[in-house]
Amino acid sequence: MRMRKKRNLIPRMERCQSVWIQEPEALKGRWEKMLKTAPVHVELGCGKGKFTARLAEQNPNILLVAVERVPEALVIAMERVIQSELSNVFFISEDVAKLSEFFEAHEIQRIYINFCDPWPGNRHAKRRLTSEPFLRIYDPLLQVGGQIHFKTDNRPLFDFSKEEMERYGYTITELSYDLHANGPVGDMTDYEEKFWNQGIPICRLVATKEKDQNK
Ligand SMILES: C[S@@+](CC[C@H](N)C(=O)[O-])C[C@H]1O[C@@H](n2cnc3c(N)ncnc32)[C@H](O)[C@@H]1O
Repeated sequence: MRMRKKRNLIPRMERCQSVWIQEPEALKGRWEKMLKTAPVHVELGCGKGKFTARLAEQNPNILLVAVERVPEALVIAMERVIQSELSNVFFISEDVAKLSEFFEAHEIQRIYINFCDPWPGNRHAKRRLTSEPFLRIYDPLLQVGGQIHFKTDNRPLFDFSKEEMERYGYTITELSYDLHANGPVGDMTDYEEKFWNQGIPICRLVATKEKDQNK
């Protein structure tokens, strides 16, 4: 996400200390304790956090951890959840590639990836958050029976991601090529709302981890 530099970014970030986890390594293996044994759900690349806030609000029983590497977007997401007075969502200002530094094996029940950057062309395919090198990072952290929930407007990215997940050993348990064909379904992200308003079909899948791969 390319965003204009915000001059008052640092004081705004500092005002979000209650939801901003600045040393996520220290919570490795202990996340669920933050909310008394709540299942841990992780959103990768949360952007400005519309989905993050809605999901947390509607599921007070989960602990939602959102990861975003662009502070200009992250600060908006953090301000949103503070304004909504949510107590079950926290943020990590880091690259998703470092996820295994923050979570223990089998610590995560569900991963959300929404409208990740498509990185068109084969040369940059490995940078897609749904590519095999990233699945290798997520997989050991996911519980058996855990899921990856993925949405995008980009059909080539969707087809690529489905294939990568199946090849990795995941079972596709939900699949839609036009999620909102009969009216809005579920919590929309900032990007999703924009595309939906333009009449662009949204693709969604759920990939379920049936067993440990030990790859
Ligand atoms: C296209 S935006 C989508 C934002 C949001 N999920 C939505 O649907 O509105 C992709 C987001 O993922 C973030 N992102 C991309 N790669 C990332 C990475 N490796 N680590 C952390 N965040 C990443 C970007 O900074 C950006 O905010």
